[in-house]
Amino acid sequence: IFDVKGGADEGLDWLGQNVVVKGWVRTLRVQSSVTFMEVNDGSCFSNMQCVMSTDAEGYDQVESGMIATGASVCVHGTIVGSQGSKQKVELKVSKFNMVGRCDSSFPIQKKRVTREFLRTKAHLRPRTNTFGAVARVRNALAYSTHKFFQENGFVWISSPIITASDCEGAGEQFCVTTLIPGTREGSVTPLGSIPKTEDALIDWSQDFFGKPAFLTVSGQLNAETYASALSDVYTFGPTFRAENSNTSRHLAEFWMIEPELAFSDLDDDMACATAYLQYVVRYALENCKEDMEFLNTWIEKGIIDRLSDVAEKDFVQLTYTDAVELLLRAKKQFEFPVKWGCDLQSEHERYITEVAFSGRPVIIRDYPKEIKAFYMRQNDDGKTVAAMDLLVPRVGELIGGSQREERLDNLELRLDELKLNKESYWWYLDLRRYGSVPHAGFGLGFERLVQFATGLDNIRDAIPFPRSPGSAEF
Ligand code: 4AD
Ligand code: MG
Repeated sequence: IFDVKGGADEGLDWLGQNVVVKGWVRTLRVQSSVTFMEVNDGSCFSNMQCVMSTDAEGYDQVESGMIATGASVCVHGTIVGSQGSKQKVELKVSKFNMVGRCDSSFPIQKKRVTREFLRTKAHLRPRTNTFGAVARVRNALAYSTHKFFQENGFVWISSPIITASDCEGAGEQFCVTTLIPGTREGSVTPLGSIPKTEDALIDWSQDFFGKPAFLTVSGQLNAETYASALSDVYTFGPTFRAENSNTSRHLAEFWMIEPELAFSDLDDDMACATAYLQYVVRYALENCKEDMEFLNTWIEKGIIDRLSDVAEKDFVQLTYTDAVELLLRAKKQFEFPVKWGCDLQSEHERYITEVAFSGRPVIIRDYPKEIKAFYMRQNDDGKTVAAMDLLVPRVGELIGGSQREERLDNLELRLDELKLNKESYWWYLDLRRYGSVPHAGFGLGFERLVQFATGLDNIRDAIPFPRSPGSAEF
């Protein structure tokens, strides 16, 4: 359907051509002499309207009532001009073939269902307009992410999922355990889904082959090693956080994009983040027109204008200290009172992006070192670090980044201050011993980007199979 209807003239250059459409029935209208069937194959937002008269081969399947919404079908026919106002072309059916019937219990009928309900049907929700559109926009954002970095000379590297280090030092890691064959006295089977046979028991005394290991919270430290050899690099992969928070912006498993720029400082980092975000937003607007128009009508009114502004206009930049000043002057009572040194809460971020700068992305820089991670480069004032967060309306923090501490002495001092185990960072410290360079990078939470670019209010709808407390069913 994308091949036929995806072009600028919505299929008119296909007039007279014979095609085969394979997809799922969205709607069915049976009249005495002609049957209209809208078929969607997910390749684009558009359905193909298939018009079948009683002499089409396979028409008996219509008569016997076999076709229903949700059924999979294979339709042969000719592209002709359409009389309908919704489309320029339609398929005049010569041969119809039912591939898979659809039971009447199909839960995603034409009537509108809530996104909360659809979360319980994660295996079927991609068949809806909303989740089809979100999946294609997500795909465009992923593709344009690689495109942006590749066009700018970055090398993509894979960072490990299993690791012994805690990049953010916040202790929000999932622990890896080993499922070992055989029985041991006292072993238990904690998951009902694991067969209760003698062959598969979890031995909690085992972790990663005898050593502690966790699911990674960030690929940054690994990316830094490659940036110290290949210059500009980026990672794009799954990361995990064991935060037991049920919010609309947090997942236990999310994808992160982490560029790392060698011979660069915080200004280069902010410039890269800005150019990258503008590039992917522009790409989605230009390449997902139909999907974006649907989202603009049904999910967030005005999203196209909002994103166009993001793609074109400069972002606001201010220091943490100025942000605190601004919040102190605000004629608003915050639940969490503001004072220099405090972490900014989502109500503060909201005020800054939505009220103070009326919807523009805002980059806040130079945070107090106490509220930021050990690896951030200390500024000359001794109080702040060269960190930046990029905030956008509704979603809040979309990007977190910093210039890294490249000076061995300073880094060791900071590890000591924070009582972190220096030995376990030996390889990270080596980078500062052998040809250290100023470098900087950031992490963008991909699902928050999808949320931002689609207008979805809940991050659980921005990833096909969300993982959050209590949900790992599908
Ligand atoms: O600010 P964070 O914790 O930064 C880092 O992990 C750095 N090591 C990144 C770097 O400099 N390479 O996380 C980065 C981003 C956040 O701004 C947010 O968009 C996203 O990751 N994020 C989450 N997204 C969904 N669910 C969660 N639980 C998230 N935690 C962070
Ligand atoms: Mg952060």
